[in-house]
Amino acid sequence: MCGIFGYLNHLVDVDRKSIIEILLTGLSRLEYRGYDSAGMAIDGDNAQEIQIFKQVGKVAALRKLVDQTAQNTDKVFNQHAAMAHTRWATHGQPSTINSHPQRSNANNEFTVVHNGIITNYKELKTLLMTKGYAFESDTDTEVVAKLAQYLYDSNSPISFIDLVKGVLKELEGAFAFIFKSSHYPNEIIVTRRGSPLLIGLKTTQKLKVDFLDVELPTDVEASGMLAVPNNKPAPRSHSRTFMTENGEQQPIEYFIASDPSAVVEHTKHVLYLEDDDLAHISRGELRIHRLKRDDGLSSFRSIQTLEIELAAIMKGSFDSFMQKEIYEQPESVVNTMRGRVNFEANKVNLGGLRAYLPHIRRCRRIVFIACGTSYHSCIATRALFEELTEIPISAELASDFLDRKCPIFRDDVCVFVSQSGETADTILAMRYCLERGALCVGITNTVGSSISRETHCGVHINAGPEIGVASTKAYTSQYIALVLMALQLGDDRVSMAERRSEIIKGLHELPELIKEVLKLDSQLQHLAQTVLHKEKSLLILGRGLQHATCLEGALKIKEISYMHSEGILAGELKHGPLALIDENMPVILIMTKDSLYPKVRSALEQVTARRGSPIVLCNTTDTSLAGEYRSIAVPELPDCLQGILNIIPLQLLSFHLAVLNGVDVDFPRNLAKSVTVE
Ligand code: F6R
Repeated sequence: MCGIFGYLNHLVDVDRKSIIEILLTGLSRLEYRGYDSAGMAIDGDNAQEIQIFKQVGKVAALRKLVDQTAQNTDKVFNQHAAMAHTRWATHGQPSTINSHPQRSNANNEFTVVHNGIITNYKELKTLLMTKGYAFESDTDTEVVAKLAQYLYDSNSPISFIDLVKGVLKELEGAFAFIFKSSHYPNEIIVTRRGSPLLIGLKTTQKLKVDFLDVELPTDVEASGMLAVPNNKPAPRSHSRTFMTENGEQQPIEYFIASDPSAVVEHTKHVLYLEDDDLAHISRGELRIHRLKRDDGLSSFRSIQTLEIELAAIMKGSFDSFMQKEIYEQPESVVNTMRGRVNFEANKVNLGGLRAYLPHIRRCRRIVFIACGTSYHSCIATRALFEELTEIPISAELASDFLDRKCPIFRDDVCVFVSQSGETADTILAMRYCLERGALCVGITNTVGSSISRETHCGVHINAGPEIGVASTKAYTSQYIALVLMALQLGDDRVSMAERRSEIIKGLHELPELIKEVLKLDSQLQHLAQTVLHKEKSLLILGRGLQHATCLEGALKIKEISYMHSEGILAGELKHGPLALIDENMPVILIMTKDSLYPKVRSALEQVTARRGSPIVLCNTTDTSLAGEYRSIAVPELPDCLQGILNIIPLQLLSFHLAVLNGVDVDFPRNLAKSVTVE
């Protein structure tokens, strides 16, 4: 949901061409977050003259524009501050004028890139218009640049940091921003509230520090638009200037990004900002200020070492990230289980939950809260939790949970499942539950994300970076992480020992069986080509544990191939959807062996009685269907794990349908990987 990237060098010689390349490469790593348009702001021949380049379309289109128009590409800068943005439109359609950076006026005095939504932008816009500021775009972000200009015009001289604090105090909504200004050359301010942001640090010598302390706000003299700090000196120094062993200032480069994949090729040292942190980078010095005083947050921000490798965010020999990520699943599921499952002793140990197990076992219910694919992983494992723990379980879509203002109590355990850890609806639901005193557990794929930081405890699914917009390997890893959680929670129940060991044995076999399923790829490509790709609609039916597979399969198909698809609980067929069935309606029926198999067989009868000819997704051992139906046959696993194997053919099918329909699979229209707006 928009990617932002910034770069600032100090005492390191970098030519303009290289600065542009750093920005474009950073943006291309963030492109999955939005790809309606892209833009950047860099200095002209001097830092008082900011140049903006913006283009509708993907980063490649911006690259073309910059190649045609950027001047003096060999000019060397010893210090320079630059910003860039890739957009997923929320306010104003994709167009050059609505792209970021947004600016305060035609002289580009203040430029801003933004990820998030400013909910009170209309009021601010009206106010600024009455003060004579003219707007050129339909975006909410433009008010931020204009507000900065207004505060500058009415309060100058004012320091950059005080000015940006003044801007933030007027804003409602969610944001991550980079601010740059011709009045404050070679400086940059980055800040966040509700949208992710981190700063990578690269020095020529070893980085010795491991944290920065935070500067608390000074008092303000007035409130409202003209509020400016009274400039009382801060009680002690909070900045960090990085020095060499000889006591000289170290050459340093800063990389600001919405997520670590955009900085990892430059540095592994990163600092994650908290909500309402403002990081001011100036003359090589990094200083973190707080906007508010009494919010109970630690006054230290640690510099962490990233564990991801560049190779993990490159496509390798695959045509798309989605295809690569589907094929990574034999490995990613192992990484989810690594160090957590003792296959000999039949034991599961999720270190992140251990201290909280007694509390969770005593809770009155577990509420799973998530969106999209992550929600489907909750649906897929809900029954296993009920079976192994006998705790009442509910699964909630985060947006609906919030709309209903669900009652939540101190003895509830709320589990937030999110690949990115930054989905706005899920974060808001988490904060709602934290406020009500529930124990909050995060299941995410992104170390350092808001959900992993703000929950009391949790599990990282360790699937590795997922770049393709359609979630694939994160789903199977979330599924496994939840199975592991259910196994660990239920391991005090002796009566379930046999069931647990059956499941753990199944987990052991899983990676090899996924490899078997991936061998169906060419069969699925053929099915897509010869049977499905000209169709308008596809129904996916199943019941019990496979309901989640139907929902997730249908989501994959509609989001990347644009074919209408619906996942239907087979038990509901006769309550309405059966009316859709005739000889022309394509149907996939999931009928792998479990206790509901006889009931799914009767759904098969219902469909065939209406002249439907379903494709059956069944087990290789099921000879009863052979010859009669087109089939996709997968190996057998314990019922509660079967969904992990069953989803893979549907992932592959959606991929092939998308390719046949000419869709750029990693960038389906209107979507973004990380939905950081409500
Ligand atoms: C679909 C998909 C989305 C996400 C949803 C939640 O393929 O990726 O439905 O699952 O936007 O995202 P996370 O898991 O990051 O919270």
